[in-house]
Amino acid sequence: MYKIAVIPGDGTGPEVIDEALKVMTAAAKLKSFEVETDTYDFGGDRYLASGHIIDDGDIAELRGYDTILLGAVGHPDVPPGVLEKGLLLKLRFDLDQYINLRPVKLYPGVQCPLADKTPEDIDFVVVRENTEGLYTGMGGTTYKGMPNEVATQIMCNTRHGVERCIRYAFELTRKRDREKMLTLCAKTNVLTHAHDLWWRTFNEVGEEYPDIKKDYAHVDATCMWMVKNPEYFDVIVTCNMFGDIITDLGAMIQGGMGVAAGGNINPDGLSMFEPIGGSAPKYTGQGVINPIAAICAMAMMLDQLGESAAADAVEQAVMSVTGGKLKSMSAGKMGYSTSEVGDLVVEALQ
Ligand code: IPM
Ligand code: MN
Repeated sequence: MYKIAVIPGDGTGPEVIDEALKVMTAAAKLKSFEVETDTYDFGGDRYLASGHIIDDGDIAELRGYDTILLGAVGHPDVPPGVLEKGLLLKLRFDLDQYINLRPVKLYPGVQCPLADKTPEDIDFVVVRENTEGLYTGMGGTTYKGMPNEVATQIMCNTRHGVERCIRYAFELTRKRDREKMLTLCAKTNVLTHAHDLWWRTFNEVGEEYPDIKKDYAHVDATCMWMVKNPEYFDVIVTCNMFGDIITDLGAMIQGGMGVAAGGNINPDGLSMFEPIGGSAPKYTGQGVINPIAAICAMAMMLDQLGESAAADAVEQAVMSVTGGKLKSMSAGKMGYSTSEVGDLVVEALQ
């Protein structure tokens, strides 16, 4: 029996989460495990109505669950940064979800913007550091609004934080057992303090993994290779900011935000899974948004819970739906409504 906290969140989050839960229920039945869910209304609407985002008491309550499934964070009437920092980043930081795991995998039948690339060419994973880097909020503003205003945003890297992320990535590369190559994506030629730490840690930890090929690419070159030769990559490990940026590029080459899923993982604690596309407010309530990313995030969640057979079955079902049914991955162009896509995945699962 797994206890799951569900945070549907803003915009189209609730719609896609409904489909993910529908598929989860079917998978649980098929593989004979039990799930119990509780829904939390954290997000923009609640904030606008009550001023409440999420507090330490809420976090303490969430700790009572086995995992968290999140829909989307972002509301057009809430200023940028408020919900992102107050909800999403607070959860990631307070729950020490130090890995952001983002598979970049082109499913069959999904249109790829890169000419001549097929599912065989696009299948890698990005391990993004998730609790440090440019995301800590360190820095500040002085002389605000004056001509001499100073604004700093510190890229904070600790040996502990960098090492545990790199170690996770090496372990994952070994477990994936494909090219057995781990690429460090950084910018050692410019970030001679911060990314020198990454470089040295990568090489030191790498000595414990003689079976893994150690590779390096600057972040700009990584973007180039992701478009030109995505088949080159197996696992990429990178800092928080670079991981944020390259995984949006990754989402595009795997067919768009409608398919990209990710996990905020604390390997020894409470993790949280989410489609990475955001709340897409303009599509809210229309039943046109693609739920595949949320369904895939739910599959990653099942995998993390230890139900890997169920996770595989869901992924296979998704692939049969993308490969045989959906006309497009884009909102409104799938040829089916949001809930019909969920039904198709359930059908394929059975
Ligand atoms: C993501 C998002 C977040 C991030 C935002 C909403 C804070 O872009 O999950 O990639 O930058 O991490
Ligand atoms: Mn992002």
